[in-house]
Amino acid sequence: MSDPKIIVALDYPDAQSALQLADQLDPQRARVKVGKELFTRSGPDVVKALVSRDFDVFLDLKYHDIPHTVGRACAAAADLGVWMMNVHTLGGSAMMQAARDAIGQEGDAPLLIGVTLLTSMDQATFDQIGLTGAMTDTVVRLAGMAKESGLDGVVCSAQEASALKQALGADFQLITPGIRPAGSDRGDQHRTMTPKEALSAGSDYLVIGRPITAAPNPMQALLDIEASLL
Ligand code: C5P
Repeated sequence: MSDPKIIVALDYPDAQSALQLADQLDPQRARVKVGKELFTRSGPDVVKALVSRDFDVFLDLKYHDIPHTVGRACAAAADLGVWMMNVHTLGGSAMMQAARDAIGQEGDAPLLIGVTLLTSMDQATFDQIGLTGAMTDTVVRLAGMAKESGLDGVVCSAQEASALKQALGADFQLITPGIRPAGSDRGDQHRTMTPKEALSAGSDYLVIGRPITAAPNPMQALLDIEASLL
């Protein structure tokens, strides 16, 4: 069974565009991510359509609510057959444990991932909401809480990956966006790493959107990235 490291972000406003892109990819070589815009516009049907095409789907809805509500939402996501889902670690341990309890830990349970601090958060926002200490220490602390609450890993910047692997161990999964193949357009991403650098730093899965979805030939772009990993 293949274990693709690349998760293609299907950041589209409608199911048709998302499926059109997915149909150009091989589910043996790439996983896919469905985020808030696509899900809000197209709902569970687009997730089901991707699952039925044999894609492993990361449902990136970053749940953050009272424990009971998050648990129920995670159970609903698991019923869709997703491979990975995520919650905000800032929701606290009880919320994360409720998510874990709701989807179980059997072999075929989806991976449950935490979001620590959003990479869009700057120091001014961090201070404004009353968080203290260094932002990097907060990321490590929230990731530690996620691990203690039974989560399988966190979404993080590749720049944080080696510190997090060291602090939390090899089995704790690190999912990293902000990846740009050498020479490609950075778009609105600021602190990027190449796919190879990110894996060397300790990333387990690379979330890559526009370098693949905006390429003239998305499958070729995926193959080129795969080749760059060797
Ligand atoms: O197109 P690009 O490769 O920049 O897409 C990155 C994907 O990862 C987008 O879906 C974006 O929302 C997501 N993401 C991110 N940075 C985070 C968390 C998620 O870029 N910190």
